[in-house]
Amino acid sequence: MSAESLQKILKTLADPTRVRILLLLAREELAVQELMDVLGMAQSRVSRHLGILRESGLLRDRREGTYVFYRFAAPTTGAWQDAWALTQRELAGDALVARDSAALLRVLEARASRARSFFDAVGPEWEALRKVFNDDTLRARAVAHLAPAEWTVADIGTGTGILAAELARLGMRVIAVDHSARMLEAARSKLGDEGFTLGDVGRADADDESGRIELRAGEASALPIADAEVDAALAHMVLHYLPGPLEALREMARIVRPGGAIVVVDFVRHEAEWMRDELGVLWLGFPPEEVAGWLREVGLERVRIETLTARSPARELPATFIASARKPR
Ligand SMILES: C[S@@+](CC[C@H](N)C(=O)[O-])C[C@H]1O[C@@H](n2cnc3c(N)ncnc32)[C@H](O)[C@@H]1O
Repeated sequence: MSAESLQKILKTLADPTRVRILLLLAREELAVQELMDVLGMAQSRVSRHLGILRESGLLRDRREGTYVFYRFAAPTTGAWQDAWALTQRELAGDALVARDSAALLRVLEARASRARSFFDAVGPEWEALRKVFNDDTLRARAVAHLAPAEWTVADIGTGTGILAAELARLGMRVIAVDHSARMLEAARSKLGDEGFTLGDVGRADADDESGRIELRAGEASALPIADAEVDAALAHMVLHYLPGPLEALREMARIVRPGGAIVVVDFVRHEAEWMRDELGVLWLGFPPEEVAGWLREVGLERVRIETLTARSPARELPATFIASARKPR
């Protein structure tokens, strides 16, 4: 090591404020304001020392929005290591350093309580505020991750396979049924483009992480699925297209194994006549209690109905319901 390098180290450590800053930044990553609070010094003074330390290559900084956080990047060369070990050892019992430690704890506590006091202050208004995040989809997806990934699920009236894809993304095996050849073709091309493995679900590897989707052509009233072949069956916005919704529910109950689940999503009975012409629907929704009765009639139990008021920015849409039930064990 040259005399010049040694002098540089000793010069850096010759200033008590710089040493205090280094001791603090060795323990915690801090913003300028936080250092000012701990040291009880003005910004100009703290910034000047930070500038010198940064120029000597002793600091690592991280920008987060308008804040810059600093941390001491202790050099690993022998002389620096020795000088820094000596500094730490000699100042271990120093009163000013002890005071800085206590002030640091207060600053860190204030940092933690800022987030806490934000929520304390916001309280019930959070419901309105959180809407800026538009994170309901994220919430639904998070909850979906609770469903067992090893399940095989039937998606009745799959359309372009939107739900089949969601389920396969969770690692499930999906039998996606539709009676429209064009819909199935659209699903095949879309799901293929999205990289899903299409093919026989029976051949799926149990450890297949990305799931697997099998497209089958067939009628909801005579599903091309064996008795108890699946763990769950789902029909999303399909019931109102079926001449015999009760028959379809009976079929769904048949293909699910004992203990398996059935979920049906559809519109609550409504007056939106335009849906007949524009969407080709056969039913203007259903009274949820009637669907609950049908689910019991086909031998299912633990029937639950949740009604949701639709919020569509594009058009007034009827309320929807989610009906679920279990096949007795
Ligand atoms: C409104 S789309 C819903 C598609 C999908 N479930 C979704 O939520 O994106 C209705 C689908 O049900 C299918 N479908 C209608 N009647 C059917 C029946 N009797 N048997 C099987 N599929 C049928 C249609 O071909 C169409 O793909």
